[in-house]
Amino acid sequence: MPARILDGVAIARHIYASLVPRIAALKLRGVHPGLAALQIGDNAASRIYVRNKVRACTEVGIYSEAHHLDADCSEAAVLKTLEKLNRNPQLHGVIVQLPLPPGLNAQRLLQTVDMDKDVDGFNWANLGALVDARKGLVPCTPLGVMAILDDAGIAIEGRHAVVIGRSPSVGKSIALLLINRGATVTVCHSKTRDLVNHAARADILIAAAGRAGLVTVDMVKPGAAVIDVGINRLADGKLAGDVAFAAASEQAGWITPVPGGVGPMTVAMLIANTVTAAERIADAPKLPAAV
Ligand code: GUN
Repeated sequence: MPARILDGVAIARHIYASLVPRIAALKLRGVHPGLAALQIGDNAASRIYVRNKVRACTEVGIYSEAHHLDADCSEAAVLKTLEKLNRNPQLHGVIVQLPLPPGLNAQRLLQTVDMDKDVDGFNWANLGALVDARKGLVPCTPLGVMAILDDAGIAIEGRHAVVIGRSPSVGKSIALLLINRGATVTVCHSKTRDLVNHAARADILIAAAGRAGLVTVDMVKPGAAVIDVGINRLADGKLAGDVAFAAASEQAGWITPVPGGVGPMTVAMLIANTVTAAERIADAPKLPAAV
């Protein structure tokens, strides 16, 4: 029986609908959630991503600002901009759109984003909270993967999950979320021997390697949930995931398409994180004014 297709666009719509009453409740308290996106340089894909994020904010009634700096700007100029955004009380989320132009130290810049406004979850304080299963802001794509599994009612506790990819903000973070929910997790990567055998034992298979067609049908256990995080641009201009979708969807129990699977969820979870950040900032005890 062919797999059930997990529709990220529809699940993202449910996420946005669930945010509407939370945003309304914040506004009743005089808090209007706000997100700033900083793009440095002119990467065409980044421009589209930032535009999509701003549009998503507008659609749910969140304030947004898109900031831009030239590719040849100094690191000091970026730091100054980030510090200004950190201090702006109208903003509850601040993101630096990646990739950065060469010459800028991504880690130094990402660590400058206030951890309470770090709605990308890239700050080490937030990644550390994830390691320790504590309250923090979790990277958006991993949150989107979990929301897809939960929406479909796919059991996680006690299941064997295999994650292909080990980047801190995607593969490793997905592995941590799955461990925190009681899965037994195998993380595979470019140095893994016998990837096929590992993958073929997964109840939940997460492909986040960034290689089109890496996951072939022999790597899919019959009935498995297959979540494709890859977004690869093919020579003909079309988008493809890491999974050979046509064959894999005959073998899997559930599968996400590309486009229309994890991608729309990443933006939805960014907006959800912004609302969460606004709620936490609004709930935080206020320091008495200095005398
Ligand atoms: N570039 C590609 N994906 C992302 C993302 O999730 N956040 C940011 N800030 N930049 C990206």
